[in-house]
Amino acid sequence: MITRRIPSSTLQKSTVRNVSAVRSCLHGQQEPPSSQQRRGLATPVDIPQPPKKTKWGGLKDQDRIFQNLYGHHGADIQSAMKYGDWYKTKEILLKGDNWIINEVKKSGLRGRGGAGFPSGLKWSFMNPKGWEKDKKPRYLVVNADEGEPGTCKDREIMRKDPHKLVEGCLVAGRAMNATAAYIYIRGEFYHEATVLQRAIQEAYKAGFIGENACGSGYAFDVYLHRGMGAYVCGEETSLIESLEGKPGKPRLKPPFPAAVGLFGCPSTVANVETVAVAPTICRRGGDWFASFGRERNQGTKLFCISGHVNNPCTVEEEMSIPLRELIEKHCGGVRGGWDNLLAVIPGGSSTPILTKKICDEQLMDFDALKDSQSGLGTAAVIVMDKSTDVIMARFEKGQGRPREIDMLQELTKQVEGHSICALGEAFAWPIQGLIRHFRPELEAKMAKYAQENGGIPYAGGWGSDARVQGQLISPGQ
Ligand SMILES: Cc1cc2nc3c(=O)[nH]c(=O)nc-3n(C[C@H](O)[C@H](O)[C@H](O)COP(=O)(O)O)c2cc1C
Repeated sequence: MITRRIPSSTLQKSTVRNVSAVRSCLHGQQEPPSSQQRRGLATPVDIPQPPKKTKWGGLKDQDRIFQNLYGHHGADIQSAMKYGDWYKTKEILLKGDNWIINEVKKSGLRGRGGAGFPSGLKWSFMNPKGWEKDKKPRYLVVNADEGEPGTCKDREIMRKDPHKLVEGCLVAGRAMNATAAYIYIRGEFYHEATVLQRAIQEAYKAGFIGENACGSGYAFDVYLHRGMGAYVCGEETSLIESLEGKPGKPRLKPPFPAAVGLFGCPSTVANVETVAVAPTICRRGGDWFASFGRERNQGTKLFCISGHVNNPCTVEEEMSIPLRELIEKHCGGVRGGWDNLLAVIPGGSSTPILTKKICDEQLMDFDALKDSQSGLGTAAVIVMDKSTDVIMARFEKGQGRPREIDMLQELTKQVEGHSICALGEAFAWPIQGLIRHFRPELEAKMAKYAQENGGIPYAGGWGSDARVQGQLISPGQ
């Protein structure tokens, strides 16, 4: 038998992994290698890789963060504690700001308010070098305005699981070294505000928040503020203005709120869902949260599905779940079946519409929807079946000229990217999506209208005989 001598340096390199595997196995850290894996010390090793996930969805009950989304138990503190809220919160607080922020970074959590900015990174902006020298108060501002049409997730949290939000304020607040949280709740949410206020009072009474939160030595207050109702007040700087008692109009940035925010103090605005998942992430670990969803799109997520489905609902699912599975599994399918689907708005009314063909294969996460020229937004899925006319009022009647479609497109391009806040995009994108996917329908309607009404109308919708009728009067006439 010929034996080959292997240079000791090579041997050393190629066996390092095997040796450490055996060592950790001896220490009981992992299963002993299988017969296939048991190789000679000098054999090159294939590093076992965990199988790549190719399917998402089917979240198990034990992995649901919002255990009381459907109100199976009370919203009171005893019930909340029975289901895991306020468990080891003191230990989390004592681990400190860096630990919490790192855990949130590890989890891959991206803001649930619409923009999807990485939350750990955003929260870390509150703690620049030397932040301790600034003696001003510092605020976490929770965005509970939930104005985006189609969205109905934050209200469910506040109504049924309010302690998740109150505890989340404390944990996220600790991460940012905030002195207090202001929850800005939409004025119309009277019931939610009542339930939430009760939860805040219960938490104060139990010593979980206040002077010495959970006995950790950290002082933290939570205030609830009811807004007066305006969609733009959901935008973070308008919200801050409104909270300060001024008209809710956006501020120019920079300075960003982390530098100059509420009452001129360092502040961070975060969505209700983002804040409410923080304690569970810290308890179960960032890696646990990151095990759901695709790379860069991790976690579980509340989806609110409305419109032409058999059972509209809000449900917590794994990120990246296919849209079709989401609708068929949780909503009893599209009214009249999947083939009766016309289009879906996937993330609240600010996100561009998708046609059925795209919906057939669409995954529900930030990147997949961006690739389809839309967005996850607030994950408010608005389903439209074939009975829907998705077209704007005048165009719906065909009362327009084909070149008006281009004028409208041009108008959206003039606004997009040129407004102080993202409300500009929220106006432009749905129209762009409509034109992108439904231009032939628009043109067909216009042709039909012209045929039935004796000609193409003037731009603006005036009938083709408007001049004869004396309806077109120029200024000064
Ligand atoms: C017009 C407009 C309305 C908005 N409305 C809301 C809202 O109702 N709730 C919300 O959480 N974020 C809303 N946002 C996004 C916020 O400005 C902000 O990005 C978000 O609250 C940050 O939280 P997050 O980091 O947890 O996502 C809105 C943004 C714009 C431009």
